[in-house]
Amino acid sequence: MTSARIIDLLRSGKTNDSYIVRGWVRTKREGKGIAFLELNDGSSLQGLQIVLPQTIDSYDDLIKQITTGTSIEVSGTLVESIGKGQRVEMQAIAIVVFGTADPETYPLQKKRHSIEFLRTIAHLRPRTNMFGAVFRVRNACAYAIHKFFQERGFLWVHTPIITASDCEGAGEMFGVTTFDLNKVATAGKAVDFSQDFFGKPAFLTVSGQLEAEIMATAFSNVYTFGPTFRAENSNTSRHLAEFWMIEPEMAFCDLEGDADLAEEFLKYIFKYVLETCPEDMEFFQERVNPQVMTNARKILDEQFERVTYTEAIAILEKSSKTFEFPVQWGSDLQSEHERFLAEEHFQKPVIVMDYPLGIKAFYMRVNEESESGFNGDRQTVRAMDILAPGIGELIGGSQREERLDVLETRIRSVGLNPEDYWWYLDLRRYGTVPHAGFGLGFERLVQFITGMGNIRDVIPFPRFPQSAEF
Ligand code: 4AD
Ligand code: MG
Repeated sequence: MTSARIIDLLRSGKTNDSYIVRGWVRTKREGKGIAFLELNDGSSLQGLQIVLPQTIDSYDDLIKQITTGTSIEVSGTLVESIGKGQRVEMQAIAIVVFGTADPETYPLQKKRHSIEFLRTIAHLRPRTNMFGAVFRVRNACAYAIHKFFQERGFLWVHTPIITASDCEGAGEMFGVTTFDLNKVATAGKAVDFSQDFFGKPAFLTVSGQLEAEIMATAFSNVYTFGPTFRAENSNTSRHLAEFWMIEPEMAFCDLEGDADLAEEFLKYIFKYVLETCPEDMEFFQERVNPQVMTNARKILDEQFERVTYTEAIAILEKSSKTFEFPVQWGSDLQSEHERFLAEEHFQKPVIVMDYPLGIKAFYMRVNEESESGFNGDRQTVRAMDILAPGIGELIGGSQREERLDVLETRIRSVGLNPEDYWWYLDLRRYGTVPHAGFGLGFERLVQFITGMGNIRDVIPFPRFPQSAEF
């Protein structure tokens, strides 16, 4: 008898063949001299119906032991199902119980649980329909991302998790130290980081971009896919303290090329997920968010909108909407502005380009022409953000400043020391090229595709202020 995954049996298992399946019991129904189990092994939303005839060895014992959550192995014969909702079911010949789950205490009983409650049992929620679907789609997204870049000859590069530089310059970094903080605190003197593990202050990275740029100036096209960390104290449904980011970086590429790749990339991932996870996507449409399929179709069928920051400001100013934060050229777009543009105005993803220099990171290429002439008061940089309905900012990217003198000036003007960025500046000293890239927040992508309302529910073990359980 061969072991099989439930999804394979449901799709293509041969009737009258015998198989072994293993998994966790979702439900048990007892009839006269017969019992039905729904077994799930995580391979698909739908479980396999197991029919237990009374003639099976130790029937009474088994029926007592097996409850929701019990882990079992079933050897049996696949037969055509006369019941509704499934092509095949399994006639059990023998069952082994691995572990029982006391119905008095096992939290996942048949009834529907609130998503907030399930968040408190993140060690058990993967066994529910909803989280099964979320994590299968998350997996499909990750695979599609690698497939997309590998098919196009991009090199996957591994950038460091511990770093001494603040890529985004936003000061939202977690420190990394081997100092005993209790002792440091009582000493009463300034901390001497030269005595610390790395000989200087070190942090968890907020982005792999700077190192990706190094690799792009050797391999032309590269991407990162790794964890990033931000100590921003934002308790929102779009922020995590630990999240995954995908950052492609392309030499010989400008902002338009960057935006083209980002659009093609998002379309590719959606297409792959719709093809490989149709049942999970149907589940999200029916049970989570009725916009899911409309959104997906729009992504596939329509071009993204493209506007400049200045045009976006004009749209916001002309709208009759009242915003909590003022709309003003030079201020960063707030989440409410971003969502108005994507959800209400364009009703699809929109790429906003050429943001004011004053609100963006030092590495972005300074536009030669400002809105009011060269070096005028409306100086902009070659930045782009992709805003998505229901999400707001999904992607942030830019063409990079490849001119040594301009970059040095920018580093100084944001209060950083060019000496700390000597290796980054060397890339402009030796064989500099126009180059561009972007960062896609992986969890925001999964949120966008599944329609899940809170980012804490699309990562298995979310990290956010006051929470690092599991
Ligand atoms: O816009 P950000 O800060 O851009 C960068 O880090 C650049 N270095 C990327 C690049 O050009 N290579 O972040 C990129 C994306 C955001 O658009 C957002 O989707 C996501 O990362 N993101 C977060 N996701 C979850 N929780 C947070 N706290 C996030 N902060 C940013
Ligand atoms: Mg950003």
